[in-house]
Amino acid sequence: MMHKDAFDAGLATEAPAWEWLGKLARCFPVNHHEPGGYCLLDTSTFDLRRAFEEDPQRVQRFSQTLTDASERPLLHADFSKSHLDERVMQALLQLAEEQRVLALRDAMFEGGAINTTEQRQVMHWLLRAPTQDGLPAPLQDVWREMDAVRSAFLAFAETVRANPAITDVVNIGIGGSDLGPRMAVQALDAFVLPGKRFHFVSNVDGHELKAVLRQVQPRRTLFIIASKTFTTLETMTNAATALQWFREAEGGALADQVQDHFVGITTNLEAAAQLGIRTTFGFWDWVGGRYSVWSAIGLSLAIAIGAEQFRAFLEGAHAVDRHFQTAATEQNLPLRMGLIDVWRSSFLGHAARCMAPYHSGLQALPAYLQQLEMESNGKGVSRDGEHLRYLTAPTVWGEPGTNGQHAFFQLLHQGPHVLPVEFIAVKQIDHAWPLHHRLLLANALAQAQALMVGREDEDPQRCCPGNRPSTFLLLEALTPRTLGALLALYEHRVFVAGAVWNINSFDQFGVELGKQLAEDIVPRLESGDVRGLDPSTADLLQRLR
Ligand code: F6P
Repeated sequence: MMHKDAFDAGLATEAPAWEWLGKLARCFPVNHHEPGGYCLLDTSTFDLRRAFEEDPQRVQRFSQTLTDASERPLLHADFSKSHLDERVMQALLQLAEEQRVLALRDAMFEGGAINTTEQRQVMHWLLRAPTQDGLPAPLQDVWREMDAVRSAFLAFAETVRANPAITDVVNIGIGGSDLGPRMAVQALDAFVLPGKRFHFVSNVDGHELKAVLRQVQPRRTLFIIASKTFTTLETMTNAATALQWFREAEGGALADQVQDHFVGITTNLEAAAQLGIRTTFGFWDWVGGRYSVWSAIGLSLAIAIGAEQFRAFLEGAHAVDRHFQTAATEQNLPLRMGLIDVWRSSFLGHAARCMAPYHSGLQALPAYLQQLEMESNGKGVSRDGEHLRYLTAPTVWGEPGTNGQHAFFQLLHQGPHVLPVEFIAVKQIDHAWPLHHRLLLANALAQAQALMVGREDEDPQRCCPGNRPSTFLLLEALTPRTLGALLALYEHRVFVAGAVWNINSFDQFGVELGKQLAEDIVPRLESGDVRGLDPSTADLLQRLR
């Protein structure tokens, strides 16, 4: 069933469009790195200010509104303040064709095992499909099984919501089993059921667990142990400690009620049962951890906002799936934005991207995107194991506006290198102080404007060079539907960039080595045995004992 051209892509550098883009990049300011120096090579002719003067259609050309099937707006993306022109966009679309991006997309939506290093399908998108209509026949059974689990965990979420005895929900999980639900519960605060509190424990650092346990009462708390593998050190350690705390609470009075207060979300149902957790919701190895908020991993979110709103969250993402699958290339937003991400990293040398969500609810979005983008595309070899000679995923970091303005925006305006900023603004508010919102939005607009227009001054200390790129995403309101759409847009952007770079965006072998070495160090911290360790690690270990 695999799409025939899906793996025909070679190294991106061998694509004819790659060479052409390299030539075009000479007309743009490029971050240039060489031993002993990192600077902006600005011999370019491209200037954003002039680009707008010369092309009255530039905003329309490089912006797009996404709507759902009923023409309701989902989000608006304006990337006209990017360092690119129509020739670049056309060359990028050509590159996508040469790198078989759409063939790989079709293979993903057909259920092909496009995670080649692990021989797995990549089907997080199936979790948001409302029906089996239109799915390839072999996926219809998979959908039915998925739908049964989805209905079951959403029904469970409703029973928890209706149970006034449960006042606190604690999600114990890390990485993809934490960042998605943590971020979304915060973002959708306006939809969260009053009377229940939601806590997230991820770090193995006992301080984090302690801070949560001191706020909750065991008989009023539901613990969700979320782990795809149910082997992750942090989650298993936190789960074991929480279980022990629960069993010992109230002089052991609750010891036989574990099944009412602990739920497991995992593909490894057996391991959950071994911990004594009887209520479990499964998912499948075709859902990557960082793509799993749509599955039962989102249970804490489902309890917070309810089944109906959770389905709206899935619906928003599904609308973007449909768009990605069916829109013409020139109007395919994830395709266009993913290609611009490639252009920025690999041709303009933008090694980082700043996320600036101008909504405090989106505080945890940069952390969520760090995993999504950097764990997916932070790779240095191709699918065939060849070393890549270009930058792939940028470092993603950020803070909500306006806080970031008072911290690191200085570097963005006057630093010696160019780092693109991605602004996210939300039109409608959920508080009673429109003045606050006007000030917030004015700042978002002004920062993007300032980066571009700059400021001339005789004093070089005060001069802002301008011509600095940004992207502006706009949501009508922050709702489950629009948040779902936003996240799916990022997922598909990451997919597109990974496909162009010909890397496998769905494994994460780079995180394994440190985990293995930690296993070796744990007993040494107790015994003090430093034999075989490098001198620095040995010295630090001794100091930490
Ligand atoms: O850090 C690696 C990783 O495997 C992530 O990809 C994943 O989201 C996280 O650990 C947690 O894994 P699990 O859900 O299996 O506990």
